[in-house]
Amino acid sequence: MGRETPPSPWVLRHAGLVPAGRAVLDLACGGGRHSVVFLATGHPVTAVDRDISGVAHLTERPGFNARQVDLETGAPWPLGRSSFGGVVVTNYLHRPLLPDIVAAVEPSGALIYETFAVGNEAFGKPTNPDFLLRPGELLEAVRGHLEVIAYEHLTVEQPKPAKIQRLAAVRR
Ligand SMILES: C[S@@+](CC[C@H](N)C(=O)[O-])C[C@H]1O[C@@H](n2cnc3c(N)ncnc32)[C@H](O)[C@@H]1O
Repeated sequence: MGRETPPSPWVLRHAGLVPAGRAVLDLACGGGRHSVVFLATGHPVTAVDRDISGVAHLTERPGFNARQVDLETGAPWPLGRSSFGGVVVTNYLHRPLLPDIVAAVEPSGALIYETFAVGNEAFGKPTNPDFLLRPGELLEAVRGHLEVIAYEHLTVEQPKPAKIQRLAAVRR
């Protein structure tokens, strides 16, 4: 998704869960539409993608750090033991990363996740089950680690008809 794509309403709704001033990880950042949101509210942002050309427009912004990483090579989690006040993942799923994504949320921090879910096949791509969350899958991923603030698995009409799953959760 390009930089012209508006931020996800889900991310906007739950952005306030990220403690003031704490660093945010925008994983598989694409055009950086959510990096922009958090930079604008005073959060340092680390944006990770296998192609960081989409965030070239942000590289001069104070507090912005882009890391070009292929997240699906099977190599260890590229961010080591770094943790973040906010971890944001939208329209991206690589299941083996889910435990690392959850672990990257620092105490009092938040995970905000939204991506396509089983049932999206009826609407279009992605249709590959590897890229579609199963019912309750994000709940399972955070169980015992984060407190769920909001969770939905539903059909949306905007920005295009799709079946999605989304979660906002915090580490108490
Ligand atoms: C549909 S876009 C979503 C971008 C952004 N999160 C958003 O919602 O606007 C998926 C992103 O995942 C990135 N991506 C896909 N496979 C990846 C991989 N193996 N490693 C790192 N990033 C990857 C793509 O480059 C792309 O930017």
